[in-house]
Amino acid sequence: MALTPVLSEFWDEKDSWTLDTYRSHDGYAGLEKAIAMDPDDLIAFVKESGLRGRGGAGFPTGTKWSFIPQNDGKEHYLVVNADESEPGTCKDMPLLMASPHTLIEGIVIAAYAIRASHAFVYVRGEVVPVLRRLQAAVAEAYAAGYLGKGVLGSSFDLELVIHAGAGAYICGEETALLDSLEGRRGQPRLRPPFPAVAGLYARPTVVNNVESIASVPVILRKGIEWFRSMGSEKSPGFTLYSISGHVCRPGQYEAPLGITLRELLGYAGGIRPGHELKFWTPGGSSTPMFTSDHLDVPLDYEGVGAAGSMLGTKALQIFDDTTCVVRAVLRWTEFYAHESCGKCTPCREGTYWLVQILRRLDGGTGTEGDLATLLDIADGIAGKSFCALGDGAASPIVSSLKYFRDEYIRHVTEQGCPFDPHRSTLMA
Ligand code: NAI
Ligand code: SF4
Repeated sequence: MALTPVLSEFWDEKDSWTLDTYRSHDGYAGLEKAIAMDPDDLIAFVKESGLRGRGGAGFPTGTKWSFIPQNDGKEHYLVVNADESEPGTCKDMPLLMASPHTLIEGIVIAAYAIRASHAFVYVRGEVVPVLRRLQAAVAEAYAAGYLGKGVLGSSFDLELVIHAGAGAYICGEETALLDSLEGRRGQPRLRPPFPAVAGLYARPTVVNNVESIASVPVILRKGIEWFRSMGSEKSPGFTLYSISGHVCRPGQYEAPLGITLRELLGYAGGIRPGHELKFWTPGGSSTPMFTSDHLDVPLDYEGVGAAGSMLGTKALQIFDDTTCVVRAVLRWTEFYAHESCGKCTPCREGTYWLVQILRRLDGGTGTEGDLATLLDIADGIAGKSFCALGDGAASPIVSSLKYFRDEYIRHVTEQGCPFDPHRSTLMA
């Protein structure tokens, strides 16, 4: 399958982030088309395109927009989730650095469709260069009449606010994000009601990922047939895969949904010379890991799901034969324990105890009984926590024990990490 650089088409061009460059690539032509349409028709168009949310869950974008009550005369909001934090995920930040107007154009279109006059972008606070670039692009868009009163001379008004988060993984969970945006401590809310019913300031709110919104303008320009000519019936279109780890050329690769890791590795130069693939994640550490047996799994929602994982954020983290799976899982679990917001007991307590046991195994003082305890704790977290962070924390434990149980046992019998070159010195 060939790569399909659509969103990333001109990322390498000089000053790719400016309005002039964006316009030279048909930028804002999608908006001109959208603003001439009836908002209901626009929602129907996005629905028909089959575009699915690119933030991880794959919920159909047009369907989400259609939940917003139309003509109720009340305020609705559009909130863009740019709090990209899933380990290994690096697609939204590069997009915002290279081509911020793609997102801004998508925002104006989406806000027009759901009849929102205020939109917000919630960006990770740590990524100051991204924040500055986005703010500069928003100023350009206001000056050019794409934002503000009477967008493109129409009767549609839109104010866009860029909000910097304070660096908590949980604020990427959509309801915690809304609490944080409202000025409270970011902790997940009970769903339902979903944000489409009661979101920001308890008003109907669409929360969409950066890539989902940025994909809309080009679909409007090129049409549904073109979009559906890529990917599959249920997972159509192109998407951004982030490839990191032990490959020769890590980075963002844009391709149709359904491409395989084997094909993507070909573009990324393969595993670094002299080594072999050991394990990988299809969508960041929150998705169950895969091994070299899964190289031909189609990377779309159905294919990855059928193989026992989730597509998630399409963050392909690649680990070769030099990696200790126990240590990798320990690092991820430390991350989840640190980022657990503490609201519910299974995740707050469970992630703490997972870390203690994994540290014991990594340090050479674990027992074989610890493996059963790990699975028992993971079982107490998955599906029993308040939000998806808990499920994410359990998944590397369960999948690594499924594929690499022998390696865990070696940590017990060899009293430490068999991959650690300093281990014998330490033991001596
Ligand atoms: P979800 O499946 O619960 O919801 C997905 C979206 O559909 C949400 O916007 C939700 O409001 C909407 N929705 C679902 N059912 C609905 C209904 N009946 N009525 C109205 N709206 C409805 O998934 P969730 O918990 O929002 O996200 C989990 C995903 O987030 C995971 O798959 C993970 O891959 C991803 N994730 C992404 C991160 C990133 O950095 N991009 C970080 C961590 C997780
Ligand atoms: Fe907070 Fe974890 Fe519970 Fe989510 S699962 S609400 S992050 S404690």
